[in-house]
Amino acid sequence: MATENISKQVDFSAVIEAWGQTGTFVKFAKTIDVPVGKMMHVEVDGKEILIANVEGKFYAVGDRCPHMNALLSKGTLNNSIVTCPRHFSSFDVITGKAISGNTQGLPVYQVKVDGNDLFIDR
Ligand code: FES
Repeated sequence: MATENISKQVDFSAVIEAWGQTGTFVKFAKTIDVPVGKMMHVEVDGKEILIANVEGKFYAVGDRCPHMNALLSKGTLNNSIVTCPRHFSSFDVITGKAISGNTQGLPVYQVKVDGNDLFIDR
């Protein structure tokens, strides 16, 4: 399934701290910014992150392909599998693991939903 990709810069004024038990979370988007089956590119503290909506649940992984640095959010998303637009390695956005291609996996970031807002552990 082809995806429509969206880019967004994070508003750092929305930083909240000590949400839950771990880390510091930053508000980066509204849930409606990432419809089911879509991906979005965000930058948090200089990290390029791909947010994906898989059947109504939100997942975040590094947005740069470990093979040759392509932006994965410019690729395609099929269920939880993102395929790189350059050489077609694929990764699971839930686990970060490489599914195909001779490459390492992706860093995984925790996402929390509060009402209509999305927060990511930076
Ligand atoms: S850059 Fe992603 S597979 Fe080559």
